[in-house]
Amino acid sequence: MQRLIALLLLSLPSPAVAGGFVDLRDAPAVVGDAAAGAAKVTVCVACHGAEGNAVVPAFPALAAQHSGYLYQSLAGFRRRADPASPMTPQVQTLSDADLRDIAAYFASRRRNPPAAPVVAGLPGARLFRDGDAARGIAPCQGCHGASAQGHPQRGTAPRYDYYPALAAQSADYLAARLRFYRDGGNADTSNALIMRGIARNLDDAAIAELAAWLAATPRDTASGDYP
Ligand code: HEC
Ligand code: HEC
Repeated sequence: MQRLIALLLLSLPSPAVAGGFVDLRDAPAVVGDAAAGAAKVTVCVACHGAEGNAVVPAFPALAAQHSGYLYQSLAGFRRRADPASPMTPQVQTLSDADLRDIAAYFASRRRNPPAAPVVAGLPGARLFRDGDAARGIAPCQGCHGASAQGHPQRGTAPRYDYYPALAAQSADYLAARLRFYRDGGNADTSNALIMRGIARNLDDAAIAELAAWLAATPRDTASGDYP
């Protein structure tokens, strides 16, 4: 019986990725020290802006992003060590504790309000809420929350902290990330595989609409799930 189980486990499909595959379904909560993290981000804020509020569109905002998501994103850059990524040299010398502290620090910062706040009737709002069955696009809110603040079940289990908030993020960055997932992207975590499947049917017009609405949607400082 044990041999049978071992054989079954061996035959499970495992994506071939250098550095290994990370299954986030039962990953533990990320615990870091925000005050310690504040002392470790001097180099980061040169690109990501003071307190993680980026001003250059190519650089993602980090303020008020969920700490679990930030930690996994950083651990991924370190694990993949992709020479093409500007993030590789940034994380190479950081320890796991550093990554946790930095994640806790940026998660504790307030996100600046969007430069141009949401205008009623932007087409991306509808696509985010309802998806488009005819085009095979899933409703984004099922996993990112009604107003893109994070997973609707965040707080009930650690794994939901690994889903990013998308509100008040740079439109250029969001669009680049959606094209990246759509065109193959990373396949080295269970969550990256989820988002890859979702993005497959997004065309450039849908990506532009979604990114425009998300960038104009405020990060909700009054909601119970902030940050
Ligand atoms: C030279 C500019 C630069 C510096 C310095 C830099 N970053 Fe980045 N960072 C980027 C760029 C560009 C991206 C987008 C990369 C991509 O999409 O692959 C990024 C992406 C990220 C992401 C992913 C965000 C997300 O939503 O998934 C995190 C987290 C991050 N950086 C944290 C840091 C931290 C922490 C530091 C300091 C240790 C740092 N960065 C230093 C340019 C920089
Ligand atoms: C079934 C759940 C699910 C649905 C539905 C979903 N997402 Fe995601 N999304 C995720 C997960 C999980 C991640 C984190 C992926 C990772 O860690 O690489 C993610 C990541 C992202 C990111 C990257 C954010 C960053 O900071 O880099 C963007 C952008 C995004 N999703 C947009 C969307 C949009 C737009 C839709 C609707 C078309 C959507 N998602 C639908 C689960 C989902």
